[in-house]
Amino acid sequence: MKSRNSRLDRFISQHSEFAMSDVRLLLAQGRILVDGCVAQSIQQRVSEFSRVVLDDNCLQDKQPIYLMLHKPKGVVSATKDGKHKTVLDLIDHPEKNDLHIVGRLDFNTTGLLLLTNDGAWSRKLSLPETKLPKTYEVTLSKRLNADYMAAFREGIYFGYEGITTQPASLEILSDYSARLSLVEGKYHQVKRMFGFFDNEVLALHRVSVGAITLGPLAPGSSRLLTQDEIDQSSKN
Ligand code: URA
Repeated sequence: MKSRNSRLDRFISQHSEFAMSDVRLLLAQGRILVDGCVAQSIQQRVSEFSRVVLDDNCLQDKQPIYLMLHKPKGVVSATKDGKHKTVLDLIDHPEKNDLHIVGRLDFNTTGLLLLTNDGAWSRKLSLPETKLPKTYEVTLSKRLNADYMAAFREGIYFGYEGITTQPASLEILSDYSARLSLVEGKYHQVKRMFGFFDNEVLALHRVSVGAITLGPLAPGSSRLLTQDEIDQSSKN
């Protein structure tokens, strides 16, 4: 997602008939409001969600959208696909075409998927240094044992990237099921970690991303995040 954070003078020149060089005068005349306050500096940053008014014209007034979807099996984590149903096809929101996905899930993986139109928020959640925990329930084809817990805590070497995975916590729930918590999101990471033990993942379901949990949302349904969920997720 590209940043839509721009300097006020550039923003005004891109959204009105005024040139960048006119903006100092407009400021001196008190003709520009940003989020209800009279703007003072050409260097003021304008985000994609700042409300900007020039004289009586509103140049930008866009609300951020934060949404969770319970992704069912057999749906692509993409906004467009020539062949399969996409997660966007499941969403009923008037501005759904502005949304992008925060952390994809594989075609047959189910569970919590976040979507937003806020590039700064999704970037923050996805940064490796944010170390946002993602928790999955996993069903395996072979019996689990305590060796998995030790190996996942120490990290699994991924030869293709030449990296060792960050420490991950594994809770064994039954002989063939476990809850795994990861702070990164490499390609097919969960499947490849169990693949180290030659143990095929039969079902994979994401239950939480940071402080946001899927809860009782039905498969295929979506809802807006609460303000509390948004605040908690931005705290990491
Ligand atoms: N790890 C996987 O292997 N698949 C997913 O969909 C998510 C994490």
